[in-house]
Amino acid sequence: MTVHMDDYIATRADVRAYLESALADADRASIRESDLYDEVKDKLLSSGARLVAHYYVDPEIQRLAEDTGGIVSDSLEMARFGATDPASKLIVAGVSFMGETAKILSPEKQVFMPTLEATCSLDLGCPEEAFSAFCDAHPDRTVVVYANTSAAVKARADWVVTSSIAVEVVEALAAKGESIIWAPDRYLGRYVQKQTGADMLLWDSACVVHEEFRLHDLDALKAIHPEAGLLVHPESPDEMIERADAVGSTSQLIDAAKWLPNPTFIVATDKGIFYKMQQQVPDKLLLEAPTRGAGGTCQSCAHCPWMAMNRLSGINYVLDSWDSGCEVLVDPMLGERAMKPLTRMLEFKASLSA
Ligand code: 13P
Ligand code: SF4
Repeated sequence: MTVHMDDYIATRADVRAYLESALADADRASIRESDLYDEVKDKLLSSGARLVAHYYVDPEIQRLAEDTGGIVSDSLEMARFGATDPASKLIVAGVSFMGETAKILSPEKQVFMPTLEATCSLDLGCPEEAFSAFCDAHPDRTVVVYANTSAAVKARADWVVTSSIAVEVVEALAAKGESIIWAPDRYLGRYVQKQTGADMLLWDSACVVHEEFRLHDLDALKAIHPEAGLLVHPESPDEMIERADAVGSTSQLIDAAKWLPNPTFIVATDKGIFYKMQQQVPDKLLLEAPTRGAGGTCQSCAHCPWMAMNRLSGINYVLDSWDSGCEVLVDPMLGERAMKPLTRMLEFKASLSA
């Protein structure tokens, strides 16, 4: 095909017009999205439902949870809040294992999510059938699974843990002489193994977001900001964990930003955390840890694609039509089995705080 100069100019003009109109649409969409804030807030308050949000979701949703008596937290506190708050309806803004956990712990409550499509690469990387076969092959081992798993995988476990309590639980099991099967995150598993010295057999899966953090470019960033501390979520590669000034769950990283003396932090976790972290340390400079190095298409690509599916419009939709297919349902028999290792985790947590 021959493209004449006139056609080319026309095509370029078309493309420009198309792009301008697409950008204007996107702008209008985001304006419409934040325009919903007051309306959604009023509906949420009058519904009596509680919004339970993770630090990785849109800051507007985090703000909404705080403004309406809900919670913004790490996955352990989300589970604890959902189980103890008296509201009979919960809206969980996060990923599917968080909604399922809330439902398993409170089968009598109705649990909704702005989208039921938001999964997690760790959950996807640990299918129940293969995991059960792995457990069957090692019947003498205690099965400890990360919360980022399906209800079916949890139902096969002796313990569920989140990153904020994994070291303590495994330490206690190792002290009793138990050897362990760990799934699914290999980086967190290796970190726990190093911290506790426990005998752990590791499932081989990873978080697609945290796995991208690289030492490459970190040194360059440190050269510009020699005063910066490094905060690392333990789903990140070992080389990042080894260089960290603090390693921990999302809540623990926010706390570390407060108690560490550094005026600047390089943060290796989903960038959604910056909203709450910056509130806690308004005078400190927070920088995104580099991902993928110089060849990447973005300096830091650290945002979970499934967490990003949570939108104010999705919450609005739930509030308008409760029976619209956004309710989290868990097979009651499966839920009963999965509740045991989850309850064990919450009781263990309570015993630490007592
Ligand atoms: P936290 O329990 O630290 O909030 O982590 C959940 C998660 O999915 C991290 O990627
Ligand atoms: Fe799962 Fe990673 Fe997303 Fe967390 S950030 S929900 S571990 S995919």
